Amino acid sequence: MKKKETYNIAIIGATGVVGREMIEILEERQFPVNELRLLASEKSVGQKISFKGKSLTVGLAEEKSFEGMDMVMGDTPTEVSKMFAPMVKKAGAVFIDCSSAFRADPKIPLVVPEVNGEAALAHDGIVAGPNCSAIPVAVAAKPIHKKYGIKRMVVSTYQSASGAGKGGMDELAAQTVALLNSKEIPLKVFAHRLAFNVIPQIDAFLPNGDTKEEDKIMKELRKLLNAPELALACTAVRVPVMCGHSATVNIELEKKASAQEISLLLEKAPGIVIRDDMAKKQYPMPMDIAGTDEVYVGRIREDHSIPNGINLWVCADNLRKGASLNAIQIAEYLIKNPS
Ligand SMILES: NC(=O)c1ccc[n+]([C@@H]2O[C@H](COP(=O)([O-])OP(=O)(O)OC[C@H]3O[C@@H](n4cnc5c(N)ncnc54)[C@H](OP(=O)(O)O)[C@@H]3O)[C@@H](O)[C@H]2O)c1
Repeated sequence: MKKKETYNIAIIGATGVVGREMIEILEERQFPVNELRLLASEKSVGQKISFKGKSLTVGLAEEKSFEGMDMVMGDTPTEVSKMFAPMVKKAGAVFIDCSSAFRADPKIPLVVPEVNGEAALAHDGIVAGPNCSAIPVAVAAKPIHKKYGIKRMVVSTYQSASGAGKGGMDELAAQTVALLNSKEIPLKVFAHRLAFNVIPQIDAFLPNGDTKEEDKIMKELRKLLNAPELALACTAVRVPVMCGHSATVNIELEKKASAQEISLLLEKAPGIVIRDDMAKKQYPMPMDIAGTDEVYVGRIREDHSIPNGINLWVCADNLRKGASLNAIQIAEYLIKNPS
């Protein structure tokens, strides 16, 4: 990225839950924006969205939309990101994509700035943002892996409805209202009713019994931690929470560490807030952390079922640190380290 005073930014998927959050974050963080171009599908053309006190009109995402842009943020479904990426590259802009389209490609950097920001600088036009559960777990695991070495990690996620986009949030809200009125409504987004339930399936099953979501979380954690052989197990569960993903993380360390040592280490690590006080019943919960930017860690304790075990509870806003904020932090990293 060439050094400039201000940058031309386009957001594809500006009308979705990640895209809308991104617009707010650009304003909150006073990102040096010259022009902001909001793009979506035909269905949203003409919608008005406010940015810095101005009303911007959503345009159709198409090949010519990317001309003159420095960076294009991809907040669309995977297939849509795949379709637009070559057009963005052709226009000479950097594509920072929140979908899963490019995360597994070994030539494309998968980046969480606190974990491996420098990887973004090796991009060839595309930088991928990871899965919304992989991001907070990687932020918490990175300092631990660096100091004590992680031998094996078991990650169990509790993922909110907004992880499935606007459609997921609308479905949970409608199901809740319908159930309280003794009615059922047809399912569109989730495999089963989510209201007053938990669903141990996110995305489709693979032949080995894992879901695609679990497979993505494990592969992305290995790539982010630069630990291709790391032993990992994952179970991803959808819970009836609107916003905020949580995870229990059971870690087997190479070198022994006490809970207090892990707590002190994480307290100093970038992007992490410790909320861990048993006496005061303090630990991170989605209802408290939704709308915030950090990764919260609590319930830090030793796991006595194995020699060097540590258990953590990790929580973050999936729409912010889990997607839009992370992508903007990647953009900030690129502009702070011009080529
Ligand atoms: N939600 C999360 O927590 C989260 C976290 C990490 C990553 N992600 C990823 O981020 C991406 C966006 O997710 P989301 O949750 O914001 O979904 P969403 O609320 O369903 O929004 C999807 C957006 O994509 C746009 N879109 C769909 N088809 C399009 C097309 N052909 N051309 C242009 N725009 C199109 C939609 O525009 P219209 O309104 O015009 O249809 C909408 O703005 C997905 O790849 C998702 O996997 C999401």
